[in-house]
Amino acid sequence: MSFDRKIKIAPSILSADFANFGQEIQAIEGQGADWVHIDVMDGHFVPNLTFGPQAVKSFRPHVKTVMDVHLMIAPVDTYIDAYAEAGADVLTAHIEAGPHIHRTLQAIRGAGMKAGVALNPGTPAEAVEHLLDLTDLVCVMTVNPGFGGQKFIDMTAKVRKLRAMIGDRPIHIEIDGGVDPKTAPLVAKAGADVLVAGSAVFRGGSVENPDVYGENIKAIRAAAEGVWV
Ligand code: DX5
Ligand code: ZN
Repeated sequence: MSFDRKIKIAPSILSADFANFGQEIQAIEGQGADWVHIDVMDGHFVPNLTFGPQAVKSFRPHVKTVMDVHLMIAPVDTYIDAYAEAGADVLTAHIEAGPHIHRTLQAIRGAGMKAGVALNPGTPAEAVEHLLDLTDLVCVMTVNPGFGGQKFIDMTAKVRKLRAMIGDRPIHIEIDGGVDPKTAPLVAKAGADVLVAGSAVFRGGSVENPDVYGENIKAIRAAAEGVWV
């Protein structure tokens, strides 16, 4: 996985057909997705339940790009090896999920993955200040985690602060929640490079009609890149 700050679109398969993940992943990658975002929820840290390590492992052969696994679970540490074995490229844990995020990030890297730290909307940018040397990605939540299709919460001031704190370090800023062609330019301009989008990518399309995914991805990318010129 090489580092750059180009805009990357990471469709969240939370909005895919749950009976057909393999083909859904192939469809979004065939239509220009840069990363594949996988939302792991435990019904405890967030009020919703999705997939465990065994399911994530079964997605792996279908993902040719980057498998970006977002853990919305607590505790985290007992599951790190299972997600490494499942083949995650990036493993992101929430700073709010426990008292020892520093140790968690070390353990994620120690298991051979890129380490991400996610911030809920109520958590300030400063919370990651002493974690940046252990971090490959900061995920700024622009919804309260748990469900797709929620309304974007404006976190551009937080993104700007993080971008300044990060400086030249090779750390991605990822935005998760309510990203669409209207909201993407706000966060891209503030310094984000990875844009997760669930409903805005899958809306209107299907594995039988994947071109719609392509159009949706293109619209988000064009809106985000538009602010660069
Ligand atoms: C929310 C998840 C998101 C979600 C994004 O808890 O982490 O990845 O699927 O979905 P949209 O783009 O529909 O807000
Ligand atoms: Zn997510």
